[in-house]
Amino acid sequence: MKILRYTTITAALFLITFSNAQDPIKISVQEDAEAPIVSKHIYGHFAEHLGRCIYEGLYVGEENKIIPNTEGVRNDIIAALKELDIPNLRWPGGCFADTYHWKDGVGPKENRPTIVNRWWGGTTEDNSFGTHNFLNLCEVLEAEPYLSANVGSGTVQELIDWVQYTNHDGISPMADWRRENGREEPWKVKYWGVGNETWGCGGNMTAEYYADIYRQYATFMPGWSGETEVYRIASGASEDDYHWTETLMKNVPHELMEAVALHDYAVFDWNDKGPSINFDEEIYFKTMEQALNMEEYVAKHIEIMDKYDPEGKVDLFVDEWGGWYDAEPEVANGVLFQQNTIRDVMIAGTVLNTFNNHARRVKMANLAQMVNVLQAVILTDEEKMIKTPTYHVMHMYKVHHDAKLLPTKVEDNMEYRGLPVVSVSASKDEAGKVHISLVNIDPEKNVEVEVDISTLDIKKIEGNILTSEKLQDHNSFDNPEKVTPKEFKDSKLKKGKISIAIPAHSLIVLQGS
Ligand code: AHR
Repeated sequence: MKILRYTTITAALFLITFSNAQDPIKISVQEDAEAPIVSKHIYGHFAEHLGRCIYEGLYVGEENKIIPNTEGVRNDIIAALKELDIPNLRWPGGCFADTYHWKDGVGPKENRPTIVNRWWGGTTEDNSFGTHNFLNLCEVLEAEPYLSANVGSGTVQELIDWVQYTNHDGISPMADWRRENGREEPWKVKYWGVGNETWGCGGNMTAEYYADIYRQYATFMPGWSGETEVYRIASGASEDDYHWTETLMKNVPHELMEAVALHDYAVFDWNDKGPSINFDEEIYFKTMEQALNMEEYVAKHIEIMDKYDPEGKVDLFVDEWGGWYDAEPEVANGVLFQQNTIRDVMIAGTVLNTFNNHARRVKMANLAQMVNVLQAVILTDEEKMIKTPTYHVMHMYKVHHDAKLLPTKVEDNMEYRGLPVVSVSASKDEAGKVHISLVNIDPEKNVEVEVDISTLDIKKIEGNILTSEKLQDHNSFDNPEKVTPKEFKDSKLKKGKISIAIPAHSLIVLQGS
């Protein structure tokens, strides 16, 4: 009798275990006429005067005869960024922005004063990379410039002069000065940040005080530049500072503010960020826990915005995001220079899925930062340049630029130490092609998923995968192609359902046509 009971229990347990192991995670992808367009600006970038991002990275100087360049900007970087179709670029900071006086960076280079980069290593810069270099670069890249203006140590006049200098096409003191400096046509800059992290490095302000300051700056920004629309972005909250967003939404008239920002880095301990390559599983888990918090932060900031702005006039811009680890010690002037591994693929894939899924309100995001700083897409070492694993994520996700969001639903997601294992987003482009981006963050286990696309007219599935044997794998100057996307052939489409086993720590983008 006892033996029989034991056998029955064992069989039942076996069945449960067996069926759990076999049950795929169910994902449905559906069309919804009301769904938003995934703005290409979600795939924006950020370049600050910090470490080797601008000087010794992007910009090597007009006189450089060793590294081929256009107006001092490396041609290899320009080519790599063009392949990404980068939609916008934020500059000059970051914390640096609230110390930057733009007038010191225009006119003959030999007359420009120096500036001490007090936030980032105290280096003395010669102001040789200025407004003209940046805006001309954006033109070459066909990217919208996003100028981050100095509120912390600047003046209203300084900002409105910058607007006039870049945008006015008539006769005016600033437009005339621009012409004297060699640029006839205005650049027509649309995106303007009014201060950066004004709760911290931008002036240690309270939300209430900044809301008032913001109103003052924003009042004088439009109206100097003819027809150019000026899109004003309020310096936003960090992570879960909902009071900040609520105060701005409540205290600033919405006709003065086109967007509110948000900053959120995947850093698990500000005092001990851990290594960028040789991290262990515990650090990986904590980093992913932080990265996945983006979902909650974005959802809750949007909830507040919906309360005060139900018509959705004010956008949310996550204008700084990415993984942040300890800098690699051996790199000279390597302030915030870190390597980029499969962990960064997991961060980028999951965070971008979050942005896509919240495209109704998230209209821009800027990965921090573009070259040699934090979760960079490009690393340089003198004349050498490599594309990081994050570069490849941005390239694979390009298919979502300005495509219509297809809402997705995940049923019975599995867990990795309490975190949801699979992240997904999907969109349909103008040609009718469907793209589904899937991430499995589990460091060790493959996961089976079944994607129901039966309501979409799809006959053929193709795909690409980005992964590597170890989470710590990365591209180096000696082995620049270690982590690159490969064709993914292991998906099966049957009766409107795609079956896939997503390998551990990997990212897949499927295309259905
Ligand atoms: O991206 C690095 C720094 O992070 C930026 O300067 C600042 O805005 C943020 O704290």
